[in-house]
Amino acid sequence: MKIKVFDNPTQMGYMIAKEVAAQLNTKPESVLILPTGSTPIPTYKSIVEMYKNGEVSFKDAVTFNLDEYIGIESDHEERYYNFMQRNLFSHVDIKPENINIPDNQTTDCEKECVDYEAKYRASGCADLALLGIGNNGHIGFNEPGTAFDSVTHVTSIAESTIKANARFFASEDLVPKQAMTMGISTILSAKKIFILITGKGKHDILMKLLDTAVADESIPATALRLHPDVTIYADREAAGLI
Ligand code: PGA
Repeated sequence: MKIKVFDNPTQMGYMIAKEVAAQLNTKPESVLILPTGSTPIPTYKSIVEMYKNGEVSFKDAVTFNLDEYIGIESDHEERYYNFMQRNLFSHVDIKPENINIPDNQTTDCEKECVDYEAKYRASGCADLALLGIGNNGHIGFNEPGTAFDSVTHVTSIAESTIKANARFFASEDLVPKQAMTMGISTILSAKKIFILITGKGKHDILMKLLDTAVADESIPATALRLHPDVTIYADREAAGLI
């Protein structure tokens, strides 16, 4: 794993956006795995800016989001479908049919996960995956203990994640308890992976990730040790003195 440290999240987002633009300019039909959460927002802002300046196009791009809540109203602003429209998709030229996010309006989420995995694999898998990380080391909603050979599945959200995500909801008990998420093996199928880590609050998990030399299912992000092309993007607050 390589690590790149930036002065602040804005600068970091700009550099990641440049990488995404380079990927799409080299291969316009690239398949991307995309995250939600607060960490990727500066990246999405920079991508939108680059799109407006004619520096990148999503005309032929195909995207798969990492995950989606189960049991959230269709118009709730924290539904990841709505998050992605607001922060990225409504501002760029991506074709609606090339956007993939697990459909949480279905009555059969288990089947949705099977179909989502199949559609993702049929796309040829991601050229580039952007990921966030939870304080407990989760990637997507793969909470500690998730098998490294997992594929897209329905999962229970860990108590610590519910607490962390409560800041986006009116109260903690309104945070959904379940989600659909790409599995760890789904994520590892991407040809190149960037993991985005910002803020003081993520310093400890970044240190744990760097200090855990052997992939360990109790810290899901350590699965990235099994992948040949992973870059950690961190800001100075998350990196501390490293
Ligand atoms: P955050 O979430 O970017 O809002 O911190 C990351 C995650 O939980 O994966």
